[in-house]
Amino acid sequence: MIVEKVMAFDQGDYTKVNLDPLTTEHAADEVDIWVPNALVADYKSIDPADYSAANVSFAQGTLLIKQHFAAGSPDGWTAMWKAAAGYNAEAGDWWWGRIATDGTIVVSGVVDSCIGCHSPAGENADWVRGIPASEQAP
Ligand code: HEC
Repeated sequence: MIVEKVMAFDQGDYTKVNLDPLTTEHAADEVDIWVPNALVADYKSIDPADYSAANVSFAQGTLLIKQHFAAGSPDGWTAMWKAAAGYNAEAGDWWWGRIATDGTIVVSGVVDSCIGCHSPAGENADWVRGIPASEQAP
């Protein structure tokens, strides 16, 4: 179940890709981004300043996790989970979710607001916005 996986992200399979907490366009004061260990290089290769240069696509089952903070305290997560081909082919077949700290799903599925703001990343970056090299953990 995706929600359980998101809530247990810090069990060793995920790497935090940002060095310091990020300020963000998301409705959050700060965020940390957690990527499966094997996909860190792919994630870091995405340059938000030039999505046309990106060349990544993530496999079915990939789960990308953003931990939100409000006033310094954990405030749930947003997540992208790669569904089966055809789930939502026009936006990379991602399932989108906003999950509260107690595990309640606030919104999920094919969420237009998420997709709208991730669409600049487009097909080259597989709808993944990425973070600038200057913000990345070494
Ligand atoms: C206002 C624009 C905006 C909206 C709306 C938005 N995102 Fe994002 N998202 C971003 C940006 C920009 C990043 C890159 C990291 C950062 O700067 O926070 C990002 C990063 C992410 C990441 C980390 C992977 C990546 O793309 O780099 C996840 C997961 C994510 N968003 C999920 C969601 C979900 C789920 C929703 C809807 C509930 C959503 N986002 C809505 C702008 C947005």
